[in-house]
Amino acid sequence: MSFKKEIERRRTFGIISHPDAGKTTLTEKLLLFGGAIQEAGAVKSNKIKKGATSDFMEIERQRGISVATSVLAFEYNGTKINILDTPGHKDFAEDTFRTLTAVDSVIVVIDVAKGVEEQTEKLVEVCRMRNIPMIVFINKLDREGKDAFDLLDEIEQKLGLTVVPMSFPIGMGYDFKGIYNIWEKNVNLFNGDSRKHIEETIEISDLNAKELDALVGETSANTLREELELVTGIYPNFDKEAYLKGAVQPVFFGSALNNFGVRELLDCFVEIAPRPRPKQSEERLVNPDEDKFTGFVFKIHANMDPNHRDRLAFIKIVSGQFKRNTPYLHVRNGKKLKFSSPNAFFAEKKEIVDVSYPGDIVGLHDTGNFKIGDTLTEGEEIHYKGIPSFSPEHFRYINNADPLKSKQLYKGIDQLMDEGVAQLFTLELNGRKVIGTVGALQYEVIQYRLEHEYGAKCSYENLAVHKACWVEPEDPKNDEYKEFLRVKQRYLAKDKQGQLVFLADSAFSLQMTQQKYPTIKFHFTSEFH
Ligand code: G4P
Repeated sequence: MSFKKEIERRRTFGIISHPDAGKTTLTEKLLLFGGAIQEAGAVKSNKIKKGATSDFMEIERQRGISVATSVLAFEYNGTKINILDTPGHKDFAEDTFRTLTAVDSVIVVIDVAKGVEEQTEKLVEVCRMRNIPMIVFINKLDREGKDAFDLLDEIEQKLGLTVVPMSFPIGMGYDFKGIYNIWEKNVNLFNGDSRKHIEETIEISDLNAKELDALVGETSANTLREELELVTGIYPNFDKEAYLKGAVQPVFFGSALNNFGVRELLDCFVEIAPRPRPKQSEERLVNPDEDKFTGFVFKIHANMDPNHRDRLAFIKIVSGQFKRNTPYLHVRNGKKLKFSSPNAFFAEKKEIVDVSYPGDIVGLHDTGNFKIGDTLTEGEEIHYKGIPSFSPEHFRYINNADPLKSKQLYKGIDQLMDEGVAQLFTLELNGRKVIGTVGALQYEVIQYRLEHEYGAKCSYENLAVHKACWVEPEDPKNDEYKEFLRVKQRYLAKDKQGQLVFLADSAFSLQMTQQKYPTIKFHFTSEFH
């Protein structure tokens, strides 16, 4: 197959949702369609179970699962599909944000009864800012839930989307009869348990045909006719270009658990979802069709075996072909590296591959060369943008609890930060180290991993910080900036890249500081250049 065709046939996407909306179930059904797995229950949920925060075996188990489900690839009707896993738990939101830099589109899963939930709002906002094409799947139609029109309104209002229904439910919950597929103009009847087999589809070319009444009953048929008339009146027609620009979002209804409405979603997805898209680097826009290989690290996973400290760096291929045993430039440190066993991921296994194409993800064994955001190329100095750090929510001093193991402790901290587990700040005044995280759970993960993987012990001490802001002076030489550095010295730190950060202790002090030093900009993300 030609290089161009290989690119054309790839679809790399992520499924985002609030925990429990049905992401794992949907993923599993998609894999069943692709023939990648044979039975339900094969995909393990990477959810942190409730109350598991101090159960370290649970955390280790989760890490195992999260390696296994990081990328799930399968073939469907000639299309190569790569699903990138996104943790739903809010403490791992930053992981999800980073994964979203490697997808070309997303599917948003919403629970019909719960509607738009908090995590969905945050994640969709990130996708909206980046104009990532989104398809919405409203799940659990076999249960009582919100009225379809109310839900579509809620999605538009809370998520700021412009929806285009591609299917429409016939009844709901107890009265759920099936789904009318607006896109394919057919009816899918729900028989209560389609778990094991794939449902039958009945073509309905004319909505007014009596055939519909016979299928779903006269009342339901009439309601559907009225509702579809409303849909046509209220919502725009589907426009692929608008979807690809992120201007409209097609919506499907279904029940993942019952494998209902999933095939419609998948068939439409394969047809409309974007092939690998060009990516902006600091230097230029890089096109997937370019001959030369480029790619970037969006995730690093530590090895599960504490005796081998190697890690798996996940690379998204942006352009060209990634080949085994070929030297590539690691742009940040200027070294040439080659990889003898790059892994590709399939539903239930990983395999060593000789060639990978744009859109694919390869896992490279790494002994400490990679950081999140690093770029690999055939020689060109390219830096991919868009993997910023956000201000953490929690801050604690980290102390060495075993003086004989300080070397191990610092190495451990260094590597865990490269993996993106948390952020490290070093205070300007006294060199003390502060760990900033998105959720409190990470502190336990860090402590546990430092001890088990590096043989080091740490303790924490609370620190009252409201936000970390990256500091950008208009003129580093002006008196205002000099005064700021002197007066606020106690609150200044360097992040791991050596950028200056202001650790504001309250919203009020941040506001006062902003007013007092108007020529200095305070950014809430590390990527402001
Ligand atoms: P997540 O990955 O988004 O967190 O959600 P997950 O797929 O694990 O689904 C959460 C719960 O919702 C599961 O039930 C799952 O069986 C159920 N579910 C998913 N899709 C549907 C659907 O279409 N209809 C109905 N009625 N339920 C659905 P659970 O009891 O939490 O877990 P389990 O014991 O069934 O695995």
